[in-house]
Amino acid sequence: MRQSERGLSGQRWVVFVAVWLSMTASLADSLAAEPQPVSPAAFRSPVAVALVAGGERVVTANADAGTLSLVDPAAGVVLDELMIGDEPAWVAALGSDRVVATTLIGGDLVIVSLTGDRLVETGRLHLGLEPAGLDVSADGMTACVALSAVDRVAIVDLAKPAVRAEVVVGRLPRFVACAADGRTAAVTCSAESGVVIVDTAAAEVVSRHPFKGLNVGQPGFAADGRTIWFPWTYDGGSHPSRGNIRRGWVTGSRVGRLSLDAGDAAGELAGLTLDVSGRAVGDVRGLAAIDGGATLLVTAGGTHELLRLHEPGERGDAIPYTQISGLEVMDRGLAADASRFSRLDLGGRPLGIAVDEPGRRAYVANRLRDSLQVVDLDRFALVGEVPLAAAGPTAEAALVRQGEAIFFDAGRSLDQWYSCHTCHYEGGGNTVTFDTLNDGSTGSYKTVLPLYGVAETGPWTWHGWQNDFDASLAKSLVDTMQGPEPSAEDVQTLAAYLRTLEPPPSPYREPDGSLSAAAERGQRLFASERAGCTECHTDSRFTSDGLYDVGLARRSDRYEGFSPPSLLGLHRKTRFLHTGKAKSLDEVLTKYHAPDQVLGRAELAAAEVADLVAYLRSL
Ligand code: HEC
Ligand code: HEC
Repeated sequence: MRQSERGLSGQRWVVFVAVWLSMTASLADSLAAEPQPVSPAAFRSPVAVALVAGGERVVTANADAGTLSLVDPAAGVVLDELMIGDEPAWVAALGSDRVVATTLIGGDLVIVSLTGDRLVETGRLHLGLEPAGLDVSADGMTACVALSAVDRVAIVDLAKPAVRAEVVVGRLPRFVACAADGRTAAVTCSAESGVVIVDTAAAEVVSRHPFKGLNVGQPGFAADGRTIWFPWTYDGGSHPSRGNIRRGWVTGSRVGRLSLDAGDAAGELAGLTLDVSGRAVGDVRGLAAIDGGATLLVTAGGTHELLRLHEPGERGDAIPYTQISGLEVMDRGLAADASRFSRLDLGGRPLGIAVDEPGRRAYVANRLRDSLQVVDLDRFALVGEVPLAAAGPTAEAALVRQGEAIFFDAGRSLDQWYSCHTCHYEGGGNTVTFDTLNDGSTGSYKTVLPLYGVAETGPWTWHGWQNDFDASLAKSLVDTMQGPEPSAEDVQTLAAYLRTLEPPPSPYREPDGSLSAAAERGQRLFASERAGCTECHTDSRFTSDGLYDVGLARRSDRYEGFSPPSLLGLHRKTRFLHTGKAKSLDEVLTKYHAPDQVLGRAELAAAEVADLVAYLRSL
């Protein structure tokens, strides 16, 4: 679709930008702690959508711009845009004329009203701790928000707004759905992957449903609230040889189904494989259940598509769910039956999805197209696209965006099974170990290194054998992805994108960014002779050029010694050290990487370990 066909005249944007600039300037005054508004030329990068005004208006949450956009999808125009804070992560409708949004880095829950064709902030609550997905109860009284940094959901009384209770769910909770009964919520957690059912009225966990997997996406309820579907990525545990990838033994895309009516409290988990032999599906995330769940829509950012599952098919057959881990490639009958399974190419990186009340239209936040897309569900066709940015990007921003597109493109792997992001979630790490052939041997599983500031933290890989950054990227594309040889431009743009990935600010800091008293004590200990940490974690990123044997080597290792990883952004990790054996920082410092083990220094007292952990979390 060309720019001129999208129904946006240049003139309208001039007016819009002027209004937007004056609006954000005044808002910035009232939000002293918030970052300055971005340039109107920058990308909006929508990640989530909500429908308001009976489906006549759509609100997108724009991660890179820090804004919400109000869109008139029929006219194909952006009517208004409102700054809400650093990295909006989610937006959900609250009745027909309000929305609730979260800002992941800003740490806020923001309530915004639709007044005429304007967005007006009417409430704000600081939650901190990386609030991600949320949903609103059917009566509009309560929001359930995933606090992804601290394994909890916050149950928020929206009338005040104030936190009524926090419930511990599981590690890395990212997405939430509320059932129609007004008190049941489903939360998907990506580490110790699972679905957790919460009773929001009693503020307690009803049941936990763990399974082995990663990157669990948006859950959706059946009308009766007893069945929940969710997309997720299967972790096959095998090294990425061509044969293993094609057999579905490395990663796979799945839809899970949790039936709470299975007779016992445990519920029953089932799985469905989405990967078609020769043409797999990459990075499933968004989900919408319509017609009571007879139709499921799933976004797959890695393969740029919207998937539709419908049952029963033309011949009356059901969708063949199997055990939760699924088959390794999709059942052939299903793959060939368009009445039950179809795929729609949307381009870019489709993420959040919302469907109108009659189930006729789906609205998709497409981050890399920088647009809101409209899909007609009767024809299952793309019928509209509204660009969200006012102006084209600068040449530099366009270059970085090209690299971002490579990073999130499963098309760069053999038969499009996975992308860099499948393992390096949003540029960070992941929750499992992989054998990527990175050190030239099989059977050496290692945790995924986050890529924040990675260009500056050479030498690369855990063993630190890789001294050439560009070569490490080319190797990832060819060996880890088994994809085509990249061009010099591919590597250059990918490197430019990775250079933009700074470690996320720690949500464990005090509101003014300073360290807590415990973290300050930990900081002094970290730098002390007694603990000796700064002998190896030396520079501003807490790494160094040196390689060290810290007692974790195996006889089969091909390279000697290990490179200290950067310790910035550590709060997002759930598995530590290259083996991933340590599941908490406490375990790192007491079981596997204690000063007495590493340097033969004195053992630390429990209170000292607690202080060091407080410091490490705040980096
Ligand atoms: C199957 C999972 C997986 C995929 C896909 C993947 N990586 Fe990695 N990556 C890892 C693991 C595991 C490590 C650590 C390996 C080691 O140290 O031996 C790693 C390490 C790296 C490093 C070194 C980081 C450092 O701090 O030393 C870079 C750079 C990197 N990956 C970039 C990429 C890029 C770019 C892509 C996509 C082209 C990609 N990776 C795809 C799992 C993956
Ligand atoms: C002799 C050098 C050395 C010293 C001293 C040292 N480290 Fe490390 N550190 C390393 C190396 C090398 C690794 C990677 C080990 C591996 O997993 O193979 C590491 C890993 C870590 C990790 C895991 C990071 C992750 O992403 O999984 C943490 C946390 C850490 N160090 C903190 C500390 C603290 C705190 C101290 C002081 C008490 C300390 N280190 C002292 C070299 C050192």
